Amino acid sequence: MRFLCHNCNVFVYDEERGDPKLNLKPGTKVEDIPDTYRCPVCGAIKCCLHPLGEETVSQETEEEPILVDKDLNYYRDRGREMLTNICGVYPVCDGDYDHTCFGQKYGAPIGMGGAGQGKTFSTNYNTLQQYRLKMKVIKTHHEPEMSISIFGKKIIIPVMGAPLSGAKPSLNAAISEEDLYWGLLKGAENFGSIGAVGNTPSAADDLGLNTVGKNQGWGIPFFKPQSQDRLIELFHLAESLDVIAMGVDLGGAGSTYWSSSGKRLYRKNEDDLKELVDSTSKPVIFKDIMSVEDALTVVDSGASACYVSNHGGRVLDSGQGVAEVLPGIAEAISGKILILADGTVRSGFDVLKILALGADVALIGRTLAQACIGGGETAVQMYFDYVKDDFHRAMLLTGCDTLKHVNMNILDKLECPLISRIK
Ligand SMILES: Cc1cc2nc3c(=O)[nH]c(=O)nc-3n(C[C@H](O)[C@H](O)[C@H](O)COP(=O)(O)O)c2cc1C
Repeated sequence: MRFLCHNCNVFVYDEERGDPKLNLKPGTKVEDIPDTYRCPVCGAIKCCLHPLGEETVSQETEEEPILVDKDLNYYRDRGREMLTNICGVYPVCDGDYDHTCFGQKYGAPIGMGGAGQGKTFSTNYNTLQQYRLKMKVIKTHHEPEMSISIFGKKIIIPVMGAPLSGAKPSLNAAISEEDLYWGLLKGAENFGSIGAVGNTPSAADDLGLNTVGKNQGWGIPFFKPQSQDRLIELFHLAESLDVIAMGVDLGGAGSTYWSSSGKRLYRKNEDDLKELVDSTSKPVIFKDIMSVEDALTVVDSGASACYVSNHGGRVLDSGQGVAEVLPGIAEAISGKILILADGTVRSGFDVLKILALGADVALIGRTLAQACIGGGETAVQMYFDYVKDDFHRAMLLTGCDTLKHVNMNILDKLECPLISRIK
């Protein structure tokens, strides 16, 4: 008999076959599954397994040999297994309330979710989904020109990897910190883009930077807003390793991991920003900018890029979505400085939307981490390829021949906002 997990409606357990990944031999009845069982998709417990209706029971008698195609879905499935109880690697990574990552953690690590109840994470998704793409297909054919130069380097689509870190607390220790950084950096590079790394209190604060160094500088290290002296030291080291650019995630001042590790982080003022920019000849990026005032200060500091982000909702709960603030920020600073933005960008269609809202480059966080855990640099590169195909399609079908054609005119905003499924 086969059973469906009623929590995720994805995982099916077949008693006849058992499940080698769950250590369940063929013939293991549901009632004999140990209580330690957790659904490999969503982490739900055993009582969520319900018999599948007769009509859906397979009538096949002969076993077909299973040929494993190591495509992106294969690596996502592997990632799901390795992230059990932390992240369901769901078809849509939106921080929804019925996902494993959602909800208050009461002091435990926030895993792949968000701070507090995780509302800012899902608000990123809901506010981006308020925008729809207008289809427009009657036009002389041109292959969309998708490449862009950033910090003097050409990338083949305006998409990069967002800085990630914290393999131990956030990713079930399913990968080592260094392998996470390496997979993100190399996968992005092999595709034709640039990856980024963060820094975490559970590893040396220069591990990400040194991994970029190991990759001949191809990548962008982001540092938490540590003391000014330490940041300047890290900036000098980054310059000596010839990194493409370096950044500070200013919202990291609210990092739950750093505060629980007892390592201090600080808010930075206008003078601090200028001092950091002046301390290096390399491009500097300030991340986690969510207001016009902060964005103007970033421009004044002489930085090379303003990175609009709420840190994936991981620092401030009940916050605004990136798609809500991006158009206002872009109106104030567009053309003065490069604008980067992230927040539930999952597909090439999402990339086009976030560019139309005012970003020059879109960055992807969680779903690249999932890919990296499932298949390292190979899967990260596959994820970029997947995004590129849909981005090409999206440009073609909205009448955009070049990135200059991408603006608010290709978007339709729902008057009545999508009702969040959050309870
Ligand atoms: C597991 C995890 C670790 C992260 N680590 C960092 C970090 O070290 N530095 C940083 O600036 N942002 C970090 N972020 C935030 C991302 O850079 C990015 O802003 C966010 O993930 C984008 O949203 P998305 O995941 O919905 O695409 C992290 C996010 C996740 C999910």
